[in-house]
Amino acid sequence: MSDSEYSLPLPPNQKHSMTTNRTFTMIKPDAVVAGNSGAIIKMIEEAGFRIVAIKKTQLTTDRAGQFYAVHSERPFYNDLRTYMSSGSIIPMILEKDNAVADFRKLIGATNPAQAEEGTIRKLYAKSIEANAIHGSDSDENAQIEGSFFFAGTDEF
Ligand code: CMP
Repeated sequence: MSDSEYSLPLPPNQKHSMTTNRTFTMIKPDAVVAGNSGAIIKMIEEAGFRIVAIKKTQLTTDRAGQFYAVHSERPFYNDLRTYMSSGSIIPMILEKDNAVADFRKLIGATNPAQAEEGTIRKLYAKSIEANAIHGSDSDENAQIEGSFFFAGTDEF
């Protein structure tokens, strides 16, 4: 049997890690400080997402910069690092069929002024920067962003 034909079974807690049914989110400092995290988590669960991993934490400015490194050339990058390290955040890994796309529909457009009625950002975002919640934009980034917060934990 060649190496490519031989595959070990994945541990139970990794059986979905390469599939497309997970996304990553974090509730941002504006929503946590406003006391909206409970209402937001309720919306997420009522939309059919299962919480695989969750914690409350705070980023340093450097860690916030690493998370958003893809935006390092954008004019808002420094403000974003400062804002994202200004208070507690609640990162989560979520599971549902079609998780990435369905979750982006649930949260709405980045700019709350353009977000559809009933979306999380329409309801809770304060501005284009303090926009209540993040959602991964691809399966690949969901994996990378989930690992950023949960690599090495049982949940992940
Ligand atoms: P998010 O979806 O987490 O991805 C990048 C973040 O950068 C975004 O949400 C906002 O918080 C922030 N952002 C994006 N565009 C702007 C902008 N034009 N001005 C300020 N902040 C922005």
